[in-house]
Amino acid sequence: MTRASVLAAFATAFIAAPALAQDPREPSPERGREMVERWCVECHLIGPDGPGGDVGPSFQNVAETRSEEALRAWISDPHPPMPKLDISANAVDDITAYIRSLAP
Ligand code: HEC
Repeated sequence: MTRASVLAAFATAFIAAPALAQDPREPSPERGREMVERWCVECHLIGPDGPGGDVGPSFQNVAETRSEEALRAWISDPHPPMPKLDISANAVDDITAYIRSLAP
């Protein structure tokens, strides 16, 4: 690494840090979005214009038809054919916040 690229890497780390340094118990739709891009996109349309698969219902549809409690319960403990996802309570909050943000 050149000196300049080391400095650039440091700068990026410090600029990115505040976004990650928020209270871990504060649900974050932004973090939820990053998670669904990794864990859910293969089976669900994750945004109003995708991307995603059509194995399960679109998150837009789910946001419009399910209560926050129902979403949280499902994501913590889904039923077949959706696989059980071993995700933390904070992640469930973030993902729920993201899906709720899709409802009008
Ligand atoms: C391997 C495919 C697959 C993956 C990966 C997957 N799902 Fe699903 N999901 C499904 C299927 C299939 C259903 C429909 C189940 C049914 O209606 O019986 C479903 C249903 C749902 C529902 C609707 C539940 C309801 O009340 O009807 C939600 C919410 C949901 N998934 C969230 C997620 C989230 C969040 C993730 C990622 C963290 C995820 N799913 C990952 C296949 C998947």
